[in-house]
Amino acid sequence: MSFAEYSEIIQEGDVVIIFLGHESMMPIKVQSGAQTQTRYGAIRHSSDLIGQRFGSKVTCSKGGWVYVLHPTPELWTVNLPHRTQILYTTDIANITLMLELKPGSVVCESGTGSGSLSHSIIRTIAPTGHLHTVEFHAQRAEKAMQEFKEHKVSHLVTVRNQDVCKDGFGITGIADAVFLDIPSPWEAITHAKSAMKRKGGRLCSFSPCIEQVQRTCEALLDHGFEEICTLEVLLRVHDVRAINLPLPDFGPEEGSADSSQMASDVSQEVAPNTGNTSVICRTATPPREMAGHTGYLTFATKPRD
Ligand SMILES: C[S@@+](CC[C@H](N)C(=O)[O-])C[C@H]1O[C@@H](n2cnc3c(N)ncnc32)[C@H](O)[C@@H]1O
Repeated sequence: MSFAEYSEIIQEGDVVIIFLGHESMMPIKVQSGAQTQTRYGAIRHSSDLIGQRFGSKVTCSKGGWVYVLHPTPELWTVNLPHRTQILYTTDIANITLMLELKPGSVVCESGTGSGSLSHSIIRTIAPTGHLHTVEFHAQRAEKAMQEFKEHKVSHLVTVRNQDVCKDGFGITGIADAVFLDIPSPWEAITHAKSAMKRKGGRLCSFSPCIEQVQRTCEALLDHGFEEICTLEVLLRVHDVRAINLPLPDFGPEEGSADSSQMASDVSQEVAPNTGNTSVICRTATPPREMAGHTGYLTFATKPRD
């Protein structure tokens, strides 16, 4: 198993995602002889996991069942142990596209934080690209390295434990893209520029506050960056559900067969207490509430020398 490649069969040492139900998952490391307790009973790693196919339905000791999923960056983002605030897939998808990441890209990132974005970058640039990620908090840098090893992607990433604003990214003139998620990104623009390849390259900075965005944009302009733009990505997930719509009573119909013709997935019935006709139809409903502001994404292109 690797977070950058799919494998069929679960092996000792793999990380798997246990799917217990909607909104209920947990990552576990497979170890022969070990057991994991769930609300449906125990999962015995040796008999229930090792040698089984990823995606299998596994029956737990109390008779309930779970699915065992192959790990992906998307699943890791919603299951990882939080050591910091993290980036979620809505922003990550946009960052990956707008930074023009592809297999073979060389990317710089700071800070590593909990490694949520790092895993998506690594999967996108594999098998020939490389991520240089900088984190000044020693334990976070150490933990990220350990996770990359466990997830079998450590050959695709170098973690540096240093202050990116003082010491930069540790590379010069080779990065295709730079991503910043630190409190003062404007202090890292000089290092970002020198890490980037001589001919162009893309930069993105994530900041929750508009004042940070303003300072970053000023620094990008001072360093000659072009195509500077800031955007905010919001997600609206629509649920499909059956709803009962009462029909208004417009009096007797004027006899056209067409007027009562309805779409094939709509059924008509008489509501029991009012006698009014209603329709039950399947429809996509927007959320009543949705997650608000996470942060602003500022993108820029390094000018060609
Ligand atoms: C919000 S977290 C990054 C989360 C990450 N993008 C993710 O998706 O998991 C910010 C991280 O930047 C680190 N950091 C802040 N300033 C830094 C600096 N000057 N140099 C290196 N790391 C820094 C912090 O220690 C923290 O771990």
